[in-house]
Amino acid sequence: MGDRWYSEAVVYCLDIDTYADSDGDGVGDIRGLIGRLDYLARLGVTCLWLHPIHPSPNRDDGYDVTDFYNVDPRFGTLGDFAELLHQAQNRGIRVIIDLVVNHTSDQHPWFVSARSSPDSPYRDWYVWADHEPADRHQGMVFPGEQNETWTYDRTAKAWFYHRFYKYQPDLNFANPQVRAEVKKIVSFWLQLGVSGFRMDAVPFIIELTEPGNPDSPKDFEFLTELRQHVQWRRGDAVLLAEANVEPDELPTFFGDGSGSGNRIHMLFDFMLNGRLMLALARRDPEPVIEALRDTPTLPTGGQWATFLRNHDEIDLSRLTATQRDQVYAEFGPEEHMRIYDRGIRRRLAPMLGNDRRRVELAYALQFSLRGTPVLRYGEEIGMGEDLSLPGREAIRTPMQWSFKPNAGFSTADPEKLVRPVIDSGDYSYEKVNVTAQRGDPRSLLSWFERMIRTLREAPEIGSGSTTHIDVPMPAGVLAHRADGPTGTMVFLHNLGTDDVEVDLGMLAAEADLPMDVLADRRYGEVGKLDSLKLAGHGYRWIRLCRGDTF
Ligand code: GLC
Repeated sequence: MGDRWYSEAVVYCLDIDTYADSDGDGVGDIRGLIGRLDYLARLGVTCLWLHPIHPSPNRDDGYDVTDFYNVDPRFGTLGDFAELLHQAQNRGIRVIIDLVVNHTSDQHPWFVSARSSPDSPYRDWYVWADHEPADRHQGMVFPGEQNETWTYDRTAKAWFYHRFYKYQPDLNFANPQVRAEVKKIVSFWLQLGVSGFRMDAVPFIIELTEPGNPDSPKDFEFLTELRQHVQWRRGDAVLLAEANVEPDELPTFFGDGSGSGNRIHMLFDFMLNGRLMLALARRDPEPVIEALRDTPTLPTGGQWATFLRNHDEIDLSRLTATQRDQVYAEFGPEEHMRIYDRGIRRRLAPMLGNDRRRVELAYALQFSLRGTPVLRYGEEIGMGEDLSLPGREAIRTPMQWSFKPNAGFSTADPEKLVRPVIDSGDYSYEKVNVTAQRGDPRSLLSWFERMIRTLREAPEIGSGSTTHIDVPMPAGVLAHRADGPTGTMVFLHNLGTDDVEVDLGMLAAEADLPMDVLADRRYGEVGKLDSLKLAGHGYRWIRLCRGDTF
């Protein structure tokens, strides 16, 4: 493994409150999660990303924090959290947590004080305007659910800024005290033993908001400062950022252009996510090829985090209207499957019609593309969504562990559950659960275990360079390769429905005992690579050769 652990990690994200409830109160908790670490170790996860763990009124699923120095009492205590870190470490699993500091909850004591008086020591921790700003109705992140970014507060007798919901006032990063406090928060959790942070809403954190200016300047220097601070406190800690911005802006988040990555280590690849969805919808790899081609060069140490699903909607805002309509038609044909005028609130298996071949294909493709794969809980067993729940809650239902009541998630009365379990239809816990799949070598769960194990033997995917193999291919087929000091892997993924034959004979000279290391079926010998069979929706991961470094 290379020096940078995050390049070869498998990240798994989960909400503690919907994962496993140890005390029967209907809410998942830290002890419940500790009890599932063996499951995660077997799956092959090497890093957990926990959604917000802090005390919160929970109006935005924990992304509205009231105390950055504690864990939500519903989840347990700080002591439990330290135990989780220890138990995870024993199994070789790192833990990173969500760092949500663009804003606080409006119930955070800082905001309560700030709004109470212009003389409050916290007044300047938030962003205020005395008069109604001209951009009051611009820049909303949740169109349809939010109609302004500046709200008048009667107690404060002033307007406050909020990029997100109005109960999430933005912190003022122009204030050095706020910057210092964020560094203190980061230090606190590093000291406890987390391996880094998933930084929420980074483009908005660095925004130096000017009332009336919808395009306020950004202060990237804060990211440089924060990176330095983090690295001094813990050399191997990582920052993984959510920054869904235009491609030409992305490199600035990684570094200042000097060639070394001195800001964020890893960024979620939103661009690739949209293109992957488009490619799957069209059964045509072209959008992925474009994404590979358009990927900006990253500074040393910079890394992408790839994903198919996360806890939010699938954001299609960077596709053209026509492209978006194609994805909607295929994956979100009904109005109630869509949200915010830009996305889809569904899980992957139902989007792909519960077609096992396509689910495998999609995840084989994601995990073979450059970057560090991020997997959302429940995807490994093919969970579905509950569209009767409001907004993004549809994809935030409890983990389905077994055939037991409440899917084995909790022993509480069903009406006490933090969210209902899916108990009817094709994705009901009686049909889709860990217990059923654990012992079945043909299950999706067993497939994920095999696939992730294979990934362990192919470090060039995470640490090497990935390129499209630009030779004539049958319609629907993507051929790409990953090269690193450990050798070369070649990948074929057939997004189309037809069985085909692929000629990669031009690679034969580079090959040294080439063989399938993962495939949707037994295809036999790869021979001279000039007549590789590939089924409709099939895939083959072929090791072409090994390098000198093992
Ligand atoms: C990020 C989170 C999302 C949350 C928002 C506000 O976009 O991913 O879930 O609602 O920030 O904090």
